[in-house]
Amino acid sequence: MELNDYIASIPGFPREGIIFRDITPILASPKAMRHVTRKLADFIEDQNATLVLAPEARGFLFGLPAAVEADVAFAPVRKPGKLPRTVVEETYDLEYGTDTLQIHADAIQPGDRVVIVDDLLATGGTVQAIRHMAEKCGAEVVGTAFVVELDDLKGRDRLEDVPILSLVHYEGE
Ligand code: PRP
Ligand code: MG
Repeated sequence: MELNDYIASIPGFPREGIIFRDITPILASPKAMRHVTRKLADFIEDQNATLVLAPEARGFLFGLPAAVEADVAFAPVRKPGKLPRTVVEETYDLEYGTDTLQIHADAIQPGDRVVIVDDLLATGGTVQAIRHMAEKCGAEVVGTAFVVELDDLKGRDRLEDVPILSLVHYEGE
């Protein structure tokens, strides 16, 4: 399957100079979605993961089906104020300002083997924040998996020795 054919490239969105990589054609195709889910699930199984973490919004679209396919627990990573029980949280720097993410503290057990799933690896700020929260809870991040990786933003450099699966790579423009 040529997954590239299911990713639309939109120049100038959300602002000039950026090419937006739109994964919604994957969602529109059960065949592409099954392909992506199986690839992510194979990786989750290979890492002997016990828990998948994925951030809203686009991470949910791939993380939950992959976790179900791999028969592994899933916990959502959310923006502040959305989760009703005690949370662990992490604030991280963006190009302009900061962002905060939260996870239910009781969703991660010490000793859990975590795979983080998201649609896109760009600067790596999001996945790094999730990794810190998992580690604060005594879990080990044994892998990170993305549908798309933007190579020139070098997000993988921040992940050091954590195994990374990326199904499609884009370099620069
Ligand atoms: C996008 C994307 C990743 C993140 C990657 O999410 O879905 O989660 O950015 O960027 P990074 O590697 O530089 O952290 P976004 O915050 O745009 O929101 P969404 O998933 O809710 O659409
Ligand atoms: Mg996102």
